[in-house]
Amino acid sequence: MALEKIIFKGIDDPDHSLKHFEANGGYETLKKMFKDKMTPADVIETVKKSGLRGRGGAGFPTGLKWSFVPQDTGKPKFLLCNADESEPGTFKDREILEKDPHLLIEGMIMASYAFNANTAFIYLRGEFVKGWHHCEEALKEAYDKGYLGENILGSDFTLNMYTHRGAGAYICGEETALIESLEGKRGMPRIKPPFPAVEGFYRNPTVVNNVETLATVPAILKNGPEWYRQYGTEKSPGTKLWSVCGHVERPGVYEVPLGYPMKKFFEEDLGGCWKGRQLKGVIPGGSSTPCMTSEEFLACNMDYENIAEHGSMLGSGGMIIMDETTCMVEMSTVLAQFYHHESCGQCTPCREGTGWVHRMFKDIEAGQPQPEVKDLLFDVFTEIFGNCICPLGDSIVMPIKSMMERWPDEFDYYIREGKSKVTGKTRLGKSAMPDKPDNWRRGKPFNYPKPEEYVASYSGRAHATGNVNGK
Ligand SMILES: Cc1cc2nc3c(=O)[nH]c(=O)nc-3n(C[C@H](O)[C@H](O)[C@H](O)COP(=O)(O)O)c2cc1C
Ligand code: SF4
Repeated sequence: MALEKIIFKGIDDPDHSLKHFEANGGYETLKKMFKDKMTPADVIETVKKSGLRGRGGAGFPTGLKWSFVPQDTGKPKFLLCNADESEPGTFKDREILEKDPHLLIEGMIMASYAFNANTAFIYLRGEFVKGWHHCEEALKEAYDKGYLGENILGSDFTLNMYTHRGAGAYICGEETALIESLEGKRGMPRIKPPFPAVEGFYRNPTVVNNVETLATVPAILKNGPEWYRQYGTEKSPGTKLWSVCGHVERPGVYEVPLGYPMKKFFEEDLGGCWKGRQLKGVIPGGSSTPCMTSEEFLACNMDYENIAEHGSMLGSGGMIIMDETTCMVEMSTVLAQFYHHESCGQCTPCREGTGWVHRMFKDIEAGQPQPEVKDLLFDVFTEIFGNCICPLGDSIVMPIKSMMERWPDEFDYYIREGKSKVTGKTRLGKSAMPDKPDNWRRGKPFNYPKPEEYVASYSGRAHATGNVNGK
């Protein structure tokens, strides 16, 4: 299996203009779709047959999602492209937004046509300024050329498309929080059902799809579902983008057929761990997925089912590689900080639980944990998991719990000694806290060190590329 490019066919090309996109066959499939008078039902059927699954994390079948949109309500229908991409370790959609915006727009026109949406939005993470500019330029070009607007390419189909920038909240990537945010409210997830396909944007039928999902549609309509199914596995057909960061020789974004052997990918395509170091663990699907040991990671294949069989999840395909110098306690603290900060606060187990987990890890790092802190942490995990409105609560549990279960000695050591078993020090830059004053209990405040007093006791490169502590 070679790493053939389907979504990334035009990605290395520095020119993202419409002229260039058209010169390479862009919008030809859209023209053919109208010329051949493909019906919306034909488009849905083709995508269903291809087996394409949503690339935003949940892996839900795309054609099936489109078919859920009721056509007889008399309400307007909407397509929302989820370009929020804020999960630590995930940076694949940014490539498409910046380097091939017309591919996304072509896919969005096809998707909108499939379930009769006349309005579409690209909801971008606020920090994606370059991607936003490139999408805006591309939208203007597409309008000028008649690919968007009234009666597209002489058909009776009308579609208007807009960009919308978020304000930098990870939770706005959750589809119902995204809808709330787009409606001008605080980005807080809604209880489901009703699902957006039935009641979404301003309570109208709405499909939310990931950038990569939508950018895959033109290739499927061009070449047919059987062609697409030659890549990947029976249950996970096609190719997938993986963003790879951390302690690895060749970080970057890769398009790989689903089912590709992980060992081959890691050793041959990524060049293994950087500096010839030993691989320790990997978070394979964005920071919310369980961390795998090197043995589990190297034994699995890169598809939804096989990664699950080896104890984790494919998620968004954001791979965080950690070598032998990584302290799992410190990694857990960083993740806890992120999820605590990003909790929208509307459900108690998530709002309070993420804060407790974060505080307990700060206590551990400060050399002053509460007694039985490990048991307490597992208790809090049980209270959070499955008890929240959206999966953000679960997302602090899965990676941290998996690390505590797979590397228990590191946690025991840190709790007992007040320093990392791996680095021999704390992130306070001291070998250990000198003594343990009896002031860790609630009610008696402990003076936590100021952020500038923390120093990275592990590689700066992991920080920079993993974006785990960048916020
Ligand atoms: C906290 C949270 C953040 C999410 N962030 C994103 C995101 O940035 N991009 C994305 O496509 N999906 C994200 N999702 C998943 C979306 O809710 C939704 O499943 C997805 O956009 C559907 O598109 P798909 O079917 O094409 O995968 C997130 C989910 C959660 C719970
Ligand atoms: S789980 Fe957390 S982020 Fe999700 S709705 Fe509840 S409080 Fe908000």
